[in-house]
This record gives sequence, structure tokens and C-alpha cells, in this order.
Amino acid sequence: MQQFNVVVLGAGGVGKSALTVRFIRDEFLENYDPTIEEEYRRPLMVDGELTSLEVLDTSGAEQFTSLHEVYIKSGRGFILVFSLTQETSLKEVDYLRKQIFRIKGNDATVPIVVAGTKLDLVNEREVQTNTIQSLASRWGLPFYETSAKRNWHVNDVFEDLVRQMRRR
Ligand code: GTP
Ligand code: MG
Repeated sequence: MQQFNVVVLGAGGVGKSALTVRFIRDEFLENYDPTIEEEYRRPLMVDGELTSLEVLDTSGAEQFTSLHEVYIKSGRGFILVFSLTQETSLKEVDYLRKQIFRIKGNDATVPIVVAGTKLDLVNEREVQTNTIQSLASRWGLPFYETSAKRNWHVNDVFEDLVRQMRRR
């Protein structure tokens, strides 16, 4: 079976673990328990072909940013996570995106998907769809608006990444 490793990166508390655990176990992590590092594995069928995904859920805390370089070097594909309820969390995505291009070589072919989380928290939303559309075209990256709580578009994120990893 084809096998890919994926690294989930983004600021603290944006919902990286909730997104990952929804994908891996189809459960919602209601309580916030900051991550140090967790690794998961799951088979995923995309376009009739089975792939084994190894997903590394990382910490968003600042004391662990020194690990980003190691994660980026070892990762094949990346999910850059921000919260739709926190505009400032997009800054971390921009920073990580640049780190990836710096470390992997300025190659526009690194598989990356950007995931906005907490789509269900409509009253707390800070990042509008037009902002997302303009960043998506400026950065040339696919964006998805997701909710781990409601299981909205979570699998789409991973499927998009698998398609990119197969091409590249
Ligand atoms: P670190 O591990 O500290 O970097 O944080 P994280 O990015 O892994 O955040 P985590 O997934 O732990 O989520 C933080 C909080 O947001 C938790 O209380 C989650 O339940 C909540 N949360 C995450 N995703 C969603 C979502 O889609 N909807 C709602 N309503 N809450 C969410
Ligand atoms: Mg976490």
C-alpha cells in the first residue's frame, strides 16, 4: 500500500488535534488538552485507491517552535491550520508556509492544504470567505472551511492532500 506522512501545524488552540482525531477516530475532542506530539495512522481510500496515512499532530505552543524545522524536513505533506474564529492565527499559517518553502527549497510543488477550523462557531467568526479566497489565490494553496465538531469537510482536507502527494 502507498504510504505518506503528513504533518499538522498551526498556532496553539486552533483545533489541530480536534481535526486530526475527527479524521482518525471520528470523535470530537471537546476538552482542550494542549498537545506535545502525537502520531496516528489510518488507511484512506481516495479515488478508488487505498493509502496509509501517518499523521503527526504537533504542538502550537511557542516553546516547541524549534521543532518546526525537523517536522518540515521529515514531512511529505502539510496541513496548515488556523481558526476561523481568530484572524491572528492566519499569521502563523503565513509564517509556516514560508518556513516550508525555505526548508524544502523554493519549490511550489510541496503538498500543502490550509484548513480553517470551527466553522460551526458562526457567531465568533472573524475570518470571512472573501479573505480566504484572496489568500488562496495569493498563496496558490487550497483552503477548506471545516468543523471538527460537526464533521464538516474534514475528510476533504486529507483527500486533497493525498491527491497532491500522489502527483508530486
Ligand atoms: P495545541 O495542541 O495546544 O496546539 O491546540 P490544538 O490546535 O490542537 O487545539 P485543539 O484541537 O485541542 O482544540 C482547542 C479547543 O478548540 C478544544 O476545546 C476543542 O474542542 C475546540 N475546537 C476544535 N475544533 C473545533 C470545532 O470545529 N468546533 C468547535 N466548536 N470547537 C472546536
Ligand atoms: Mg493539539
